[in-house]
Amino acid sequence: MQIPAFTIFLCLFVTLAYGQTADSVSAEVGSDRQLDLPATPYRYADQVLPRHVKQVAELFDNTPESNPITDEGATLGRVLFYDPNLSLNGSTSCSSCHSQRTAFTDARRLSKGFQGKTVDRNSMSLVNLRYYRPGKFFWDERADSLEDQVLMPIENPNEMGHELTALVSQLQRDPIYPPLFHDAFGSTEVTKERLSRALAQFIRSLVSVGSRFDQGRAEVASVLEPFPNFSEQENYGKQQFFGRARCSECHLPETDGKTGAARQSAFFQLEGPLVNGIDSDSDQVDGGVGAVTSKESEWGRFKSTSLRNVVLTAPYMHDGRFRTLDQVIEHYNWSVKPHRNLDHRLEDFAANGLALPEVEKVALAAFLGTLTDPTFLTDPKFSNPFTRPE
Ligand code: HEC
Ligand code: HEC
Repeated sequence: MQIPAFTIFLCLFVTLAYGQTADSVSAEVGSDRQLDLPATPYRYADQVLPRHVKQVAELFDNTPESNPITDEGATLGRVLFYDPNLSLNGSTSCSSCHSQRTAFTDARRLSKGFQGKTVDRNSMSLVNLRYYRPGKFFWDERADSLEDQVLMPIENPNEMGHELTALVSQLQRDPIYPPLFHDAFGSTEVTKERLSRALAQFIRSLVSVGSRFDQGRAEVASVLEPFPNFSEQENYGKQQFFGRARCSECHLPETDGKTGAARQSAFFQLEGPLVNGIDSDSDQVDGGVGAVTSKESEWGRFKSTSLRNVVLTAPYMHDGRFRTLDQVIEHYNWSVKPHRNLDHRLEDFAANGLALPEVEKVALAAFLGTLTDPTFLTDPKFSNPFTRPE
């Protein structure tokens, strides 16, 4: 599909290019790098959405007017996302903790930063963030926009540890970037704001709507009807998800009273951060949103990632405590703990257990498997553009 018509081949020798500032920038440019981008940029701007998500997508889109996706902007964002030189020692890119293969998460319980130190929380999937209506990011929603969020891992002393002003001048001097900034923003100038806009554009382009769930959904009038492309077990699992197990009440909520269609939005996101009872009050070490806002009613609340591709995003929850989906289901089944801010939809579970029998549990897990989108996970436009990294 893509013809890598031009290839930028670079041999950069750190000592020649950067003189003596070895302490802070010693590995800021790898010895030689090869960047493979198509002559005509991939299409990121006009996302083709199936009917069953289209209407809701318009309603939920958190793209600010000041930063619409352009093909060139997202291309630059893609290069930045995969460039380990965004970290202080050239070891860690965004993709180190957000790998396409695993729906832009990593397989660790807690991610490891540029110096090998673990960070406090589990990496989050970056799928369909464009359509998270509250437009706030991180498990505790401390970033008020995606544009704010994307710069935070760069400066975070445990994640990438790079100072933004230093990074901006480093990118300005790096031969690969000025032309890409020119294509994206009309001049070769690298600025913090452009860096943030390009990364945010790339991340908003990470939209996954090509799973077997979507294929089946396109063939029926209501999400509650059996899907013709599902096995009996998967359809039974879907029935659990939307019925007895009540997962859809939170992970696919009716967010807008006006449009019943919102229920079918299929982004599988929460409407906002909640308490799902993985810790009781007294055991809660990480206060989540409450620790940021100091509001009592928000203590223990967390955002959840989209359940799309969930089979691949293990381990689960903000601290990666569950290794498998079976453990997640078992949590909801029997282990929801009392908590002063427990979401009301889970109160029954805390008291009596969800008590799904084995057959239903297994079917539910099979249904979750239908949310995997192999096209998205292998789409070259989301892949590493450095063909010879470091
Ligand atoms: C060291 C591993 C690591 C690196 C490197 C990293 N991230 Fe993350 N990312 C995480 C973790 C862990 C979280 C959750 C942190 C939290 O909530 O406190 C996260 C959360 C996010 C989120 C929030 C998702 C949501 O649904 O709210 C976005 C967006 C994101 N990262 C993008 C990036 C970008 C862009 C970069 C590169 C500039 C990057 N990350 C680099 C580990 C990493
Ligand atoms: C009351 C709302 C609510 C209900 C009902 C609910 N969840 Fe959750 N779910 C959450 C919240 C909140 C989180 C994030 C909690 C955290 O990380 O601390 C979450 C996290 C998850 C995760 C982990 C996501 C990740 O990336 O780590 C999975 C998987 C999950 N839920 C599946 C389910 C299933 C399956 C059901 C039905 C049995 C269900 N949920 C019912 C609120 C809910």
